[in-house]
Amino acid sequence: MTSTTHSGAAPATASPAVRTVRILMNGVTGRMGKNQHLIRSILAIRAAGGIAVGPGQAIMPEPVLVGRNRSKLEALAAEHGVAEVTTDLDAALREQNAEIYFDAQLTSARTDAVRRAIAAGVHLYCEKPLAPTLGQAMDIVRLANKAGIKQGIVQDKLFLPGIVKLRRVIESGALGDLLSVRGEFGYWVYPGPDPAPQRPSWNYKANEGGGIISDMFPHWQYVLEHTVGRPMAVSARGAVHLERRIDEAGAAYRADAEDAVYASFETDRGVFVQFNSSWCVRVNRDELFELQVDGTRGSAVAGLLNCKLQSAETTPRSTWNPDLPDPIAHRAGWTPVPDVAPYDNAFRAQWELFLRHVVLDEPFPWDFLAGARGIQLAEVAHESWASRRWHDIADLPT
Ligand SMILES: NC(=O)c1ccc[n+]([C@@H]2O[C@H](COP(=O)([O-])OP(=O)(O)OC[C@H]3O[C@@H](n4cnc5c(N)ncnc54)[C@H](O)[C@@H]3O)[C@@H](O)[C@H]2O)c1
Repeated sequence: MTSTTHSGAAPATASPAVRTVRILMNGVTGRMGKNQHLIRSILAIRAAGGIAVGPGQAIMPEPVLVGRNRSKLEALAAEHGVAEVTTDLDAALREQNAEIYFDAQLTSARTDAVRRAIAAGVHLYCEKPLAPTLGQAMDIVRLANKAGIKQGIVQDKLFLPGIVKLRRVIESGALGDLLSVRGEFGYWVYPGPDPAPQRPSWNYKANEGGGIISDMFPHWQYVLEHTVGRPMAVSARGAVHLERRIDEAGAAYRADAEDAVYASFETDRGVFVQFNSSWCVRVNRDELFELQVDGTRGSAVAGLLNCKLQSAETTPRSTWNPDLPDPIAHRAGWTPVPDVAPYDNAFRAQWELFLRHVVLDEPFPWDFLAGARGIQLAEVAHESWASRRWHDIADLPT
C-alpha cells in the first residue's frame, strides 16, 4: 500500500450526523482537477461543514489524492490540509474504503483508470470528455451500467448563472415558441512569440488530441440539449486559420488541428442553431460566450454570467433606412434577468448534486450516456466537415 497519511491533516469527522464519503481524486495536480474540483469544490464543501441534508445532518466528502508523482501530490496535500495521497490506484481501489472514483486526468489516460474503478465497484464521476472516442465511451457506459454503478459526467456550463437564468426564462414560456439560436464562442489566442500564447500548443496539434471541435462540442451538446433541444443533425466546417504557432519552448510548429468551426444544428424541438467557435476572433460581445435565443414572444441573450431579455411588448419598431442614423439604442432595449439566488461555483454545484445522488439516491441525469452524446456530436461534426454535408445524429443505445 503506497498511501501516505499527512501529519497536520484535517481530521475525519466522527459525528454520527455527518455521513463521510471518501473520494479517490485522480488528476488533481492538473489545472481542472486542482483548481475547480479539489480546491473550489471538495475543499470548499468541507470548509462549509459539508452539504447540509437535514437538521444537523451533512454529507462530508473526504478526498484521497491519486496521481503519478508522489512529491507533487504530497506538496498539494500539505498545502491544503488533505490527509492522504497515493500513487497506486489499484491498491487504493482495494483498500481505501472509497465510494467514489473521480477522474480529471488527461482524456487519453481516463479510459483505463475508469475501467479499473468499475471493476472495483465504486461510483464514478469524470471530467469531460469521458473517452477519446465514442466507441470507447460506449464501452464504458455498458460496463458501468452492467456493474450497477452510479455515474456522473462534468457538465459545468449548465450550472453557470447565465445558463441557469436562460433555462428559467425558456421554461417560463416567456419566449413563446422557439425559432432560432445564434451561439458565439471565442477570443483571440495569440500565436506567439510575443505576446505569449495563452493556451497550450497541443490544442493546435491533431495527433495530440487538439482541435476546437473535440474541445467545445461536448459542452455545446449539453448546453443546447438543456436549453433549446438535443442536436439531431449537424453541418460543420472547421478551419485551421493560423498554421504557424509558437510552442511553450518558443519553437515554431505547424498547427494542423482546427482553431475555428462554423456549425449549424437542428434540435429535436425544431430549433435551428448557428454556432461559431473560434480561437481566431476578436471579441465584440459582452462575454466570451453568448447564446441568443429568438422566440415568438421574446428573445434572450445569455452569457456565462448574465442573461438579458426583450419581450414582444418591448420590441422596438425597426425600419430599414440606410440614409439615416438608426434612431434606436438597440442594446438599451433589453432587461437583465436578475439573480434570484447566490450562485456557487458551477463545478461545486454539480459535485453537491452528485454526492446527494450517491448518498440519498436523488436523481442525477448527467450520466455517462449523456457524456457519450457530447463525444458523438464532435465525431459527427468531423464527419460532416469531411463530407461537406449535413449529418444526422443517431440516438445512442441505452
Ligand atoms: N469542464 C471543463 O470546462 C474543462 C476544461 C478544461 C479541461 N477539461 C478536461 O479536464 C481534463 C484535464 O484537463 P486539464 O486542462 O486539467 O489538463 P492538465 O494537463 O492541466 O492536467 C492533467 C492531469 O492528468 C495527469 N496525467 C495522468 N496521466 C497523464 C499522462 N500520461 N500525461 C500527462 N498527464 C497525465 C496529470 O498529472 C495532471 O494531473 C481533460 O480531460 C480535459 O478535457 C474540462
